[in-house]
Amino acid sequence: MESDLSQAKSRSHWSSTFGFVMAAAGSAVGLGNLWKFPYLVGANGGSAFIVIYIILLFFIGVPLVIAEITIGRFGQLNPVGSFGLISPRLKWVGGMGLVTGFILISFYPVVGGWILYYLYHSFVSFGENPDYAQIFTSYTSNPTYPIITLFIFSVLNYLIVALGVEKGIEKYSKIMMPALLVILLVVTIRTLTLNGSWEGVKFIFHPDFSKVTGKTILAAVGQVFFSLSLGMGALLTYGSYLSKKDNLFKSSISIPIIDTLVALLATIAIMPAVFAFKFEPAAGPSLIFVTLPAIFAQMPMGTFISVIFFTLMLFAALTSSISMLEGLVSYLIDRWHWKRFTATTAVAIVIFFLGIPCALSFGLLKDVSVLPGKTIFDSMDFIASNILLPFGGIMLSICVGWIWDGGLRYETIIVKNQKGNPDVVTNGYVFNSCLREITNQGTLNFPFMSAWIFIIKWVAPIVVLAIFIDNLY
Ligand code: TRP
Repeated sequence: MESDLSQAKSRSHWSSTFGFVMAAAGSAVGLGNLWKFPYLVGANGGSAFIVIYIILLFFIGVPLVIAEITIGRFGQLNPVGSFGLISPRLKWVGGMGLVTGFILISFYPVVGGWILYYLYHSFVSFGENPDYAQIFTSYTSNPTYPIITLFIFSVLNYLIVALGVEKGIEKYSKIMMPALLVILLVVTIRTLTLNGSWEGVKFIFHPDFSKVTGKTILAAVGQVFFSLSLGMGALLTYGSYLSKKDNLFKSSISIPIIDTLVALLATIAIMPAVFAFKFEPAAGPSLIFVTLPAIFAQMPMGTFISVIFFTLMLFAALTSSISMLEGLVSYLIDRWHWKRFTATTAVAIVIFFLGIPCALSFGLLKDVSVLPGKTIFDSMDFIASNILLPFGGIMLSICVGWIWDGGLRYETIIVKNQKGNPDVVTNGYVFNSCLREITNQGTLNFPFMSAWIFIIKWVAPIVVLAIFIDNLY
């Protein structure tokens, strides 16, 4: 513990609030926004899904983002160390986050590798009238290519994380995130100006509630957690590099805002093109890798749009996967005093090998299943996104709401005068360590504090638990 504390003092920090926001928004904005969100909208009744998503985002996602970042900034340590400072009995919650990190990083970079392949082919083109469904299947089922692209993608991750918090993660996020936004705007303008694109816009904004089922709500909760990088300690770790002087509330809420804007913009960029070229909006995961390349091939300026689009995907995937790595690396640095270089190298090697079975899940190992009926890749995605992340969210709200420094609570304080009669009566929330951390020792205003406390104590654990149990059966 003592060594943990001395480590906390020498810890690196973001050079600015903007740096933190770009890095954390970079973690949040990823394949979840550009790949999963548009097809979930397509498959779940257009804006009906968007409405449900936004409600869950505001009432559960945003409060939990604040809670997770608060723990990190309080502890100034990796997930295990920071939860351990709240209570030594809670170290396992952080440990579970690290395990979740390993699982996420076993499959996420595989898709990063596919993006590299598509980026390469955007330059050299796939040839005359290619069959994109066939290209996708033959690439992902090839026994060596996906491993090579996984390797290249892992090396990029490795280099950024090895350079450190400020010179690596922050610096590259500050370049990639603004670039990503600009590219996304360009692509959106291009697809909105296609003939027939208006049908797609109508589809997005016309809610079809008949497509909403229990499954839709499950999908929306899972998506909130995944898209916000919530529940495994990635935001906690980024929060641990946040300076004690920053306004935690303000910095935290910009993350869900940017994340949601990008998800919506991506949907507006993709759906109109799908309609203009008469493809199936509910195509599912193949939307990005089969439908879009086919559309790019047919549209004016298609090659250019394809190159910039897959560059955008690459940036989004990279800034997210480095955040999965960083939690693990910071644990080795804080707890075992490894040098960043050694820690990153060790983690990168392990995850590259962990990724191989997932990379082969679409070919050589496609009949191997971990969970019944699911390939290795799908099982990892399911275990992390649908089980471990929501469970991490439940634990997060319980720790902050009920355990940390006595929990969040309301008290009536009665000061008696000399005769023993009540003199001053005050009602209020006890300013425990958690609230002091959020308000910088009471010097900053914390808007919506009572609502936040109510959600963290009651709404978040109960709703997520209900959905979680429903999900398992
Ligand atoms: N949020 C990222 C996305 O939408 C994925 C991600 C990055 C993530 N880090 C995470 C998900 C940590 C859960 C936990 O693609």
